[in-house]
Amino acid sequence: QSKEDEDLNNKHKHLIATIPRGNGWNIQHLYNYNGFWLAPVIIKSNLFLHTSFKSKPTDIYLASFMKSGTTWLKALMFSIINRDRYTFSDHYLLHHNPQSAFPFLDICDPVTNSEFSRPRLFSTHFPHTLLPPCITSCKLVYVCRDPKDVLVSKWHFLNKHRSENVPPLSLHEAFELFCEGVSHYGPVWEHVLSYWKASLESPEKILFLKYEEMMKQPAVEVRKLAAFMVKPFTDEEEEEGLVEKIVKLCSFENLRNLEVNKKGAEQFSTVVKVENHEFFRKGEIGDWKNYLSVEMKERIDGIMNDKLNGSGLVL
Ligand code: A3P
Repeated sequence: QSKEDEDLNNKHKHLIATIPRGNGWNIQHLYNYNGFWLAPVIIKSNLFLHTSFKSKPTDIYLASFMKSGTTWLKALMFSIINRDRYTFSDHYLLHHNPQSAFPFLDICDPVTNSEFSRPRLFSTHFPHTLLPPCITSCKLVYVCRDPKDVLVSKWHFLNKHRSENVPPLSLHEAFELFCEGVSHYGPVWEHVLSYWKASLESPEKILFLKYEEMMKQPAVEVRKLAAFMVKPFTDEEEEEGLVEKIVKLCSFENLRNLEVNKKGAEQFSTVVKVENHEFFRKGEIGDWKNYLSVEMKERIDGIMNDKLNGSGLVL
């Protein structure tokens, strides 16, 4: 073990012993680290990012609160950046889950596979305030989603990934915790606001997108993404319908029905393995209506309105 590893382990141990802890949903506890509820292993990754991660000025980062459309954005950004490398009949994404070419900063060694795209692409769920300056100085795309749909999606997902000693969480329990802000990377309002405020300060550095707008006008958002990543579509590309081809390739229906996403799995770390089909559940706006009562809806909407009040952001 190097001196650096030892220091990091000691710092991590000390933090976990001293910072507030709360219900962990699918693990025993989440810990409140600088205002955000994180799993212990994720806090360690954050320490690592601050001490050891080296960005390149050309890197592009995708940030999101869990279950806000990360997989979709990964597919879109990857296809846009690598559009000269693949044909649509034999595209990388026809044979691989979008996660595989888009290293995740929060749990694996992020440098593995990072040279796959040029510029390098990375994703994270960390809020803006927890990112090191070497990352916040790069270009960053953020996607947010109606928190009610996020809650339902997250509840489904995390119940499938429970530690052995943790009982299933009812939707009611998940709802209460979510409203208190206690959920992986939560509070959701602080997460969204961290990127919203940063995007207002540096619009050239942060592109702030909404899942619902992407669902309504995917081609418009894909053009925005390409321009932001300094790879705008040329007139010839527009004429050959490249934007529409990318939208179609990355659509929920298309990705979900691919053999690789029906059967494969992605190993994020020694302990976290996710079946590819879990990334494609329903892909709809407003599925919360099938799960939340009117009172629950009003409570979440009320909290979000209060918290976002005056920010100019409406979700
Ligand atoms: P649901 O659980 O509501 O269906 P993330 O990728 O951040 O984990 O988010 C997962 C959510 O995005 C899931 O929502 C999933 O179905 C949806 N999703 C995945 N791929 C999508 C796509 N190509 N288009 C739209 N939604 C997608």
